[in-house]
Amino acid sequence: MGKIILTGDRPTGRLHIGHYVGSLRRRVELQNSGQFEKIFIMIADAQALTDNADNPEKVRQNIIEVALDYLSAGLDPEKSNLFIQSQISELTELDFFYQNLVTVQRLQRNPTVKAEIQMRGFSESSDENANKAGTPVGFFCYPISQAADITAFKATTVPVGEDQEPMIEQTREIVRKFNSTYGEVLVEPEIMLPDNAACLRLPGTDGKAKMSKSLGNCIYLSDSAEEVNAKVKSMFTDPNHLQVSDPGKVEGNTVFTYLDAFCKPEHFDKFASCFVGRKASFEFHSLDEVKNQYRQGGLGDMMVKNFLAAVLNDTLEPIRARRHELEQNIPYVYEVLRKGTEAARAVAAQTLADVKRAMRINYFDEGVLDELIKEQSAKYSK
Ligand code: TRP
Repeated sequence: MGKIILTGDRPTGRLHIGHYVGSLRRRVELQNSGQFEKIFIMIADAQALTDNADNPEKVRQNIIEVALDYLSAGLDPEKSNLFIQSQISELTELDFFYQNLVTVQRLQRNPTVKAEIQMRGFSESSDENANKAGTPVGFFCYPISQAADITAFKATTVPVGEDQEPMIEQTREIVRKFNSTYGEVLVEPEIMLPDNAACLRLPGTDGKAKMSKSLGNCIYLSDSAEEVNAKVKSMFTDPNHLQVSDPGKVEGNTVFTYLDAFCKPEHFDKFASCFVGRKASFEFHSLDEVKNQYRQGGLGDMMVKNFLAAVLNDTLEPIRARRHELEQNIPYVYEVLRKGTEAARAVAAQTLADVKRAMRINYFDEGVLDELIKEQSAKYSK
């Protein structure tokens, strides 16, 4: 059997370079690798609503932003099926049946959900940022809905960031439970983590653990070159690297973390001028050489930042150009989503039919009703 990918994003904002190195860049490579029979990329608007119930407009506006980011980053609708989660009601039906295979206690142990509840202030504990409103049930249960997303497409492979690992683990448990209870219908998926360590979790420009819109520490795929330059200029480096001549630290230095994620061998030639200064000049051929010089001292933050800005803009420029084109062709973008959703729905409907047949709750299917009538009539004719 061929390998099938399913993955997706919540449309709560434009995508940033953390999404790009963490998932988007890889998806495009996977799409073009020819190793996958089918690729489904989902805009998870229904999941986004689990903690944005009071703001559906935000989710609605961001569907097109995410679609534009997908297409401009190189996802090709001829090869990848892009679709909108909420338009596939089969997913909620699967979710409903899976809910019976998961315990409240198991959900409570899901570390990602736990952390997210804390972060959003949903927890009813006494800590100061708790907003006593509590946790929406839909939010608490979204790992089950995510299992429905994945299994509906019989996905074998789920490329996601490490924070999604507990979701894939729960999905695998649900699959095993379903298959052992009702028969082998569902496919146990495997997680596919980003391959470069720097990509696992790209920190925000302020050096905080994660890029997030609410922290205002993101560089967006749609940022202009000027915006990128300004954001890089204000980035965190090594707080003890005060004088250019001081030895600097590379580990935990956000500028270097970004270089680890974005820098390619050809950039040293292309942007050699970044390391030519009035007081000192350097000729580097690899990132290791840059790091060594920074550690020794003598290499200023400004030079490294100028280089990083050039590297980032080099990566983002083609994406930006394609986005500008697509922004002029919004009907095309919605047509991609509409067609992709229609195709995805047919696949999910097939899985739902298999699931109902396995659970024997397909009472009115062709042939099944006749059997049922025969069986029940026999029971009462005794
Ligand atoms: N939870 C994912 C995120 O936070 C989005 C998502 C929803 C997803 N359903 C999925 C990812 C299924 C992979 C597979 O971005």
